[in-house]
Amino acid sequence: MSWAFIATWRMALEGIQEGAKLLEDNGNCGDAVETAIKMVEDFPYYKSVGYGGLPNENGEVELDAAYMDGDSLSIGAVAGIKDFKNPISIARKLSKEKFNCFLVGQGAEEYAHKNGFERVNMLTDRAIIHYKNRLKEIKTRDLTPYSGHDTVGMVALDLNNSMAAGTSTSGLFMKKRGRTGDSPLSGSGFYVDSEIGGATATGLGEDIMKGCVSYEIVRLMKEGYTPQEAADKAVSDLNNLLISRRKEAGDISVVCINNKGEFGVATNIEGFSFVVATDSLSPTVYVCSSDNGRTTYEAASKEWLDDYMKTRTAPLELK
Ligand code: GLY
Repeated sequence: MSWAFIATWRMALEGIQEGAKLLEDNGNCGDAVETAIKMVEDFPYYKSVGYGGLPNENGEVELDAAYMDGDSLSIGAVAGIKDFKNPISIARKLSKEKFNCFLVGQGAEEYAHKNGFERVNMLTDRAIIHYKNRLKEIKTRDLTPYSGHDTVGMVALDLNNSMAAGTSTSGLFMKKRGRTGDSPLSGSGFYVDSEIGGATATGLGEDIMKGCVSYEIVRLMKEGYTPQEAADKAVSDLNNLLISRRKEAGDISVVCINNKGEFGVATNIEGFSFVVATDSLSPTVYVCSSDNGRTTYEAASKEWLDDYMKTRTAPLELK
């Protein structure tokens, strides 16, 4: 029997380290996913997830999150929720509901309030500076307002062969109020079936949802593809389809594991990072390259890791 834990982006490292300890001690995969994502949501310097996430065009932080139990296939999700500390925990609680398990906006906030979830102003001073600087850039340099879609997505397998997946994001910086991406959408931002495996995505939600890429990866693994083959095929097929039909494809990156604890990763961008831990691999950050539909990756260097945190926490000034 084995355990495994995988997540999108370097920002998941500390969470994966904590969750890996749980899984090693025969802990539950859902607890590992929730614990790890909460750590990402709570860290104020990650500007695309939770506290410190960048706001929509009205200056409001609207958060999306989802949780899926791979045994029961139960799903819970929230979209456009404001001022609650840990959307992933609200999503997990919603996954226990038979009806009304995906709530948006005010409905999600009422549910969170009634169920005792902690209310916090999620808009930080640092996020306000980013917002004001971007408004200025848009006016003076004719830049597109949209950027920043580094969703944290995780999939875990525990020693009882149960699997779970979760996502959390503040979505596109400067999005329209109410805009929802792939992250809370089953099959697009995440999917997991303990009898097969699970996958989660990050990138441009508007494009990821055109191919239901997470479900497609799980479907391919069910057909016998290894996780790496399934991830590469799903991302490359969707990327090529979008280019042939629309002349362009947004960023699409995925990570996945099967129910044996083997993992895969694929991306159509340079520099996508991910974190993985298994019973034979301590939590490690990898950085990916993509070439003709094939993804390769290597362990992040010490220099890359140092630079990552330095950039995230560097002082920020109003332009
Ligand atoms: N992938 C996150 C989003 O598009 O909102």
